[in-house]
Amino acid sequence: ISPRQANITWHPSLSRHERNQLRSQKGFTIWFTGLSASGKSTVATALEQHLLHIGLSAYRLDGDNVRFGLNKDLGFSEKDRNENIRRIAEVAKLFADSSTIALTSFISPYRADRQIARDLHAAAGQSGDDPLAFIEVFVDIPLEEAEKRDPKGLYKKARAGEIKDFTGISAPYEAPKAPEITIRTDLLSVEESVRKIVDYLAEKGLIT
Ligand code: PPS
Repeated sequence: ISPRQANITWHPSLSRHERNQLRSQKGFTIWFTGLSASGKSTVATALEQHLLHIGLSAYRLDGDNVRFGLNKDLGFSEKDRNENIRRIAEVAKLFADSSTIALTSFISPYRADRQIARDLHAAAGQSGDDPLAFIEVFVDIPLEEAEKRDPKGLYKKARAGEIKDFTGISAPYEAPKAPEITIRTDLLSVEESVRKIVDYLAEKGLIT
């Protein structure tokens, strides 16, 4: 405990199990990671819609509601990306703890940052709570394919040196070594990608 937290008292609340029972669903986080233009947001959006349509509470965090709000003070240096992902992980954890399915779609290029997000979920809550599940989905497409798609023209600018520290070109992307799920959006349709994730969630008993 740092001196800043020394006089803060943690108030006990409902257990996670009780909250999940009252909400009739489990909260957990689905963490998408992959290159820019890999299809993270497209698949996460389709999955969010599917989950809402089957009556589950789900909420997607992405650039629009995070980099323009909570994290509008952050850019794309390594340090800023670390802080971007740390805050997103904390917010996703809170959504998951409230028995909601949190979906995050950020490049999250550093393995250590994704591990921090995973560890936060494992440690969340009061003693006796089950750990919060953290499902890492690697949206895996070859860099050449992402560059071919280039929907925002950012790869072209990065190649021309107009954007510095661009992931995959002039900044690293560290692919996950053991993601729960890998999807190849250049080989699967959006529907097939969503189905693969939904099947995994059902098989693990996270959704019914
Ligand atoms: S990170 O690395 O997780 O902090 O990045 P993220 O918050 O997901 O933001 C990625 C989107 O920002 C745009 N953009 C850049 N991406 C990578 N590198 C640099 N330098 C950069 N500058 C702007 C880009 O459109 C990313 O959008 P997506 O949706 O991933 O294509």
